[in-house]
Amino acid sequence: MPNATATPPAFRYQGWSLFSLLAALVLLMTVMILIINPDLTEGVRSAIRATARSSFVLFLLAFTASAFAVLVPSPLSKSLVRERRFIGLAFAFSHLIHAVLIYWYGQLNTEFWPGRTALGNVPGTVGYVFVLLLALTSFKSTTRLIGATAWKRLHTTGMWVLAAIFAYSNFKRIPMSDWYVLPFGLICAATAIRLMGKLAQANKRQSLQRVA
Ligand code: HEM
Repeated sequence: MPNATATPPAFRYQGWSLFSLLAALVLLMTVMILIINPDLTEGVRSAIRATARSSFVLFLLAFTASAFAVLVPSPLSKSLVRERRFIGLAFAFSHLIHAVLIYWYGQLNTEFWPGRTALGNVPGTVGYVFVLLLALTSFKSTTRLIGATAWKRLHTTGMWVLAAIFAYSNFKRIPMSDWYVLPFGLICAATAIRLMGKLAQANKRQSLQRVA
């Protein structure tokens, strides 16, 4: 018999079908950008920027999901928490496309890599190490393998490191265009929401302990 008290899913697509939909949308967006751009090199560069943005949106959802579920409980925020793993994997997929496009761009524009410094590549490389670690440990078998404590430590650290890289990547571009104030403001707001969620969770736990 269906559980009458269970929250109905807010998303029509769930689990791997949600992942597949999000991955297909990222691929479609990338192909469309490459098709509509008359210059391939410029098209690839635009697609690099676009995949950074799709990754950012997916990251924001995964980063704030549990805080929203605590601060504004609703079928949507609860579904977000339930689907967080697949949204996180879709973020990793979007960033995989970002990496493939960067490699391609490096082949098309031979001045790209020589024009970058080793120091300038540090945040992005650290980011990719965490994207890989988080993605590899987002499956039931690998989660069990590393254990709940190590999993929690890795995922909490990884999410904060990625949030810092997104903040930095957008902040450093503000002198190039005022537009970057928007994503920078969004990541600052997401940080505040996540911290408020943690605080509310801790308060709730404390009052439950007092009652018990
Ligand atoms: C070594 C690894 C990486 C390299 C070489 C790289 C390279 C690039 C390049 C070439 C662009 C386009 C720049 C432009 O046309 O203005 C870009 C944009 C961007 N990347 Fe990456 N990236 C790397 C890793 C990352 C990581 C790990 C993140 C985030 C966690 C990230 C976030 C961004 C953001 C936010 C943008 C700006 C997108 C926009 O214009 O809105 N990148 N990256």
